Amino acid sequence: MKPLLIVANWKSNKSKDEVEKWLREFTDKLQKEQLNKEIIICPPCVYLPFCASFIRENNLPIKLGAQDVSSFPPGAHTGEVSASMLKDFSEFVIIGHSERRKNGDTEDVLAQKVKQAKEQNLETIYCLSDARQQAPQEVAIVAYDPSFAIGSGNPDTPENANNVAGKIRENKNVRHVLYGGSVTPSNVNGFTQMENIDGVLVGGASLDPHEFLEIINNA
Ligand code: PGA
Repeated sequence: MKPLLIVANWKSNKSKDEVEKWLREFTDKLQKEQLNKEIIICPPCVYLPFCASFIRENNLPIKLGAQDVSSFPPGAHTGEVSASMLKDFSEFVIIGHSERRKNGDTEDVLAQKVKQAKEQNLETIYCLSDARQQAPQEVAIVAYDPSFAIGSGNPDTPENANNVAGKIRENKNVRHVLYGGSVTPSNVNGFTQMENIDGVLVGGASLDPHEFLEIINNA
């Protein structure tokens, strides 16, 4: 069985209490031996330290990712969270999500973010919101996350996602290709059983711990 990455992107959701409740409910039901499945949770960055402590104290097989990173190194950049700050609490960072691109992240800015992440050994999960976009050469994890499918209840077909993933894999640096966009417990396996897809990026359905567990179990 190929190793799968199952990534939860909580986007800008949840209070501190809700984060704690989610983690407790998830932990109660999680089978600790999730063979060949790597679970990555990407909470809003202010909750990363709390999630990191919870995971450590409960010895959970979960890794953390940030949802974005500054394109600048530390310094006089008000409001920015640099890669060097994130790396104390997370191993991964999502870069290029369509919701960031819509808010003004250009290809140049995204390239700077990838560079900052790399310098701090944060593993980038690079999102393509359209099959025509390209990931930077050095990126090893790419998510095909088409805008039309995000939050719409209208996922791409597994066959088309598999074709796009095959093209992404022509870059030999790419180790994992994920599919994202309206993934649910009932459709996840259609994607993960495709030859070129080895994981999913889950938004809305990751907000509920039981639904996210079902996705992990069904993947
Ligand atoms: P969704 O979001 O699962 O809510 O469609 C996916 C994403 O934004 O990556």
